Amino acid sequence: MRSAGAAKHDLDPIEIASRDEITALQLERLRWTLKHAYENVRHYRDAFDQAGVHPDEVTDLRDLARFPFTVKDDLRQNYPFGLFAVPREQVMRIHASSGTTGRPTVVGYTARDVSTWADLMARSMRAAGGRKGDIVHVAYGYGLFTGGLGAHYGAERLGCTVIPMSGGQTARQVQLISDFRPDMIMVTPSYMLAIGDEFERQGLDPRATSLKVGLHGAEPWTNAMRQEIEQRFAMDAIDLYGLSEIIGPGVSCECIESKDGLHIWEDHFYPEIVDPATGRPVADGQTGELVLTSLTKEAFPIIRYRTRDLTRLLPGTARSMRRMEKVTGRTDDMLIIRGVNVFPSQIEELILKDSHLSPHYVLEIYRRDHLDALDVVVEPRPDLGDYDEATQRACAQNLSRAIKSYLGLSVGVRMAEVGEIERSVGKARRVIDMRVKA
Ligand code: DLL
Repeated sequence: MRSAGAAKHDLDPIEIASRDEITALQLERLRWTLKHAYENVRHYRDAFDQAGVHPDEVTDLRDLARFPFTVKDDLRQNYPFGLFAVPREQVMRIHASSGTTGRPTVVGYTARDVSTWADLMARSMRAAGGRKGDIVHVAYGYGLFTGGLGAHYGAERLGCTVIPMSGGQTARQVQLISDFRPDMIMVTPSYMLAIGDEFERQGLDPRATSLKVGLHGAEPWTNAMRQEIEQRFAMDAIDLYGLSEIIGPGVSCECIESKDGLHIWEDHFYPEIVDPATGRPVADGQTGELVLTSLTKEAFPIIRYRTRDLTRLLPGTARSMRRMEKVTGRTDDMLIIRGVNVFPSQIEELILKDSHLSPHYVLEIYRRDHLDALDVVVEPRPDLGDYDEATQRACAQNLSRAIKSYLGLSVGVRMAEVGEIERSVGKARRVIDMRVKA
């Protein structure tokens, strides 16, 4: 555990600037971004013209609400480089997300963008309790995914010793963590747990490692999952958020002082929360879909991007930049089972309340008698020994009852064998939809 946060003098001055200073900087940068996008990207010029708006008309941050949204499909339509705002020769780096269907979404960075990103990741790591001189084990995947390289550049910028392990080779992860004695690990929360299992499989105690801080993100995870990780590894587990369309990891991050909501790095990103159904802004502090606008990006400026992530904005705490509540669901993660809305994270919380159950689970959806049905498949905890059948049945019944009373939905619960549920080395797949698509 690393209890104390960074000393105030280590912070970027803007992190603790007054709200007036922050909004003045945002307005100046927003005006630049809108002009830059309008003048250099055909898509934005057409979209702004069609909406009858012009960058010169923006005199207040609220004016942004009149500009059109950008959605993932706009990236696909402009595949691969159509949304770049600088000549290709000035693009120093490309990242892409595979996407489950169709074309990948492609993003680009100038040298300055890569440097901004490194600064913001270094700032995130410092907020999480990281320090110059730390040894940092990076187990996010390297490659087109932004996780590995984003973490890597941030750690270098902070002045750390980086171990660029990437995801996978779980036995090796355990070996390197044991031998190199890192202070910090950067990895998805689900893979952190798989690494924990491997420690135990090798007869090693994960609480005895050198790790003090885990910086976890790239997928939704609940506070119950945080407690699970913190207890298993005796370290602080901190939430890091981002998406490739905006920059990658380092859009927002929790600080170790409060661990309750992620400070959005507002000098580089402007957040709005809208009603996902109507696209209209919600009242202050209400939950809705996060919409982000980049304020400094050169190669890939992005205006009012619909992230599909559900959250709400909260005031600053240890830093004056506003926070976003932990994202535990996406508009497209929401399952509708016989008319009941369910997020996987709600089921995760209930699973983790039962000390017999492990945090490894998957939701299977299928059709039975023309109706949607949901089965929760979960593993028992290996450390509690082999259960007899009656105990297993009782666990399954308890979980099913808890889900019924909390969500009002009858589900099946199946206890899997220990190790049966597929472990991902990056983002976990929580839902297997077996309904035949029409
Ligand atoms: O996952 C970037 C990232 C890498 C963030 C490493 C944090 C750590 P994409 O692959 O483009 O980028 O996926 C972005 O992942 O819209 C969210 O739905 C989800 N996501 C990312 N971070 C979190 C988080 C990276 N902390 C999508 N909590 C986003 C919940 C998250 N969901």
